[in-house]
Amino acid sequence: MAKTKSTFVCQSCGAVLVRWVGRCPECNEWNSVVEEQVIESGTHVRPAMKDGAAPTPITDRSQPAPNRQGTALTELDRVLGGGIVPGSLILIGGDPGIGKSTLMLQISHCVAEAAGPVLYVSGEESFDQTRMRASRLGTLSDRLLIYTETSLDSVRNQIKKDDYALVVVDSIQSMYTPDLAAVPGSVSQVRDCANEFLRLAKGSSVPVFLVGHVTKDGSIAGPRLLEHLVDTVLYFEGEGKQALRILRAVKNRFGSTNEIGVFEMTEAGLREVPNPSALFLSERPKGVSGSVVIPSVEGTRPLLVEVQALVGDTPLASPRRTVAGINPNRVALILAVLEKRAGAHIADKDVFVNVAGGVKLDEPAADLAVAVALMSSLLELPVASDIAIFGEVGLAGEIRAVDMARARVAEASKFGFSRCILPKSCAADVREGDIEIVPVNTVSQAIDVALDR
Ligand SMILES: Nc1ncnc2c1ncn2[C@@H]1O[C@H](COP(=O)(O)OP(=O)(O)OP(=O)(O)O)[C@@H](O)[C@H]1O
Ligand SMILES: [Mg+2]
Repeated sequence: MAKTKSTFVCQSCGAVLVRWVGRCPECNEWNSVVEEQVIESGTHVRPAMKDGAAPTPITDRSQPAPNRQGTALTELDRVLGGGIVPGSLILIGGDPGIGKSTLMLQISHCVAEAAGPVLYVSGEESFDQTRMRASRLGTLSDRLLIYTETSLDSVRNQIKKDDYALVVVDSIQSMYTPDLAAVPGSVSQVRDCANEFLRLAKGSSVPVFLVGHVTKDGSIAGPRLLEHLVDTVLYFEGEGKQALRILRAVKNRFGSTNEIGVFEMTEAGLREVPNPSALFLSERPKGVSGSVVIPSVEGTRPLLVEVQALVGDTPLASPRRTVAGINPNRVALILAVLEKRAGAHIADKDVFVNVAGGVKLDEPAADLAVAVALMSSLLELPVASDIAIFGEVGLAGEIRAVDMARARVAEASKFGFSRCILPKSCAADVREGDIEIVPVNTVSQAIDVALDR
């Protein structure tokens, strides 16, 4: 019988400690240290990634550069930086029921049809459950092999046995190795299994997708170490009961992390939304104060998004400031600028700001749209529905240039907007076509034009 030993592991940073402490000395997180049992044996030593690997000159061309494997889902390919890189380890996290397994089945089907057999390791759901889902999604394929297994050793042997085009592990928390006495899903099990999949991916050049659960605070369950270990970390997000799903790369060794993929959840699975601007604007109220459209940019793609503000008298001693979809500090800064530079009396009002459709805006180009939305609601004056607005607001009330002005204006023009309020310094970059360009220098000027004062 193998001897086990107690170790203490931080769930947040993965630090291994000799005794339990209330606060991890490595990452200073409270209550993150848990006790785990580990088998004391020499079996825990893992072999190298590739047998007989030797130092190789970086200019060596004897091995051709691998080609990315495209999937039929262009939204996904863009987030990955142009397709799946052979031998990459990709972690995909998301809330329960958001559609991780659905997305994985759809990807598996695409790759199985295009490139070869795909091993779908299902550690959480039975074969029948997975098959039922696959037939609902229309992703039945002879080359899609479902393997209901949770033992790391069996999965490793299976991967080595055949030449797979892709391996999906759903989920990493359900895998376990008997080398550790800890239960599946514990920090050491998750870390060890992920390490083994890293070795398998790099050693065999098969791309591996790991599905990861998300904890209450929104990070992927298990040590943060997991995010360092993998090549790409994707988050699959969605708002409450809405059908909209956004796939976001938070780390990518093979591409930009600014790109997003937009999907809609339907009965037949995830449907790509190649034109999210139309979707985001579809429910926009016309002639109502506090609503402004901003041509924002996510990665390389312009996206029209509606910013909504509601400013009202407060019954409370300290007025509420509730913000969703945008940095609250940025909104506080804009409120201060409006108070000081545009003569607005807003400090004693309740302020609510929301970005419609559950989109997150984190670029300064959204400042001016937020400022105008706030003033529109405060003064009860609607912004004309054919105006789009973007620009960064400075502390002196000046409007500063932002990048990709031309792409923003083009997107607004494509969706039938006939006027665009933008920073004066950007006006020279923009080609005037069907859309009227209104360059502004100050936030007051923008408010006057937008609210037709
Ligand atoms: N018949 C259906 N019609 C429409 N949508 C459905 C249907 N069945 C399931 N769904 C959607 O699929 C979602 C579940 O997807 P899936 O099982 O892929 O999620 P998951 O992220 O893998 O969940 P878990 O964390 O439990 O593994 C449901 O929340 C629902 O939105
Ligand atoms: Mg699932």
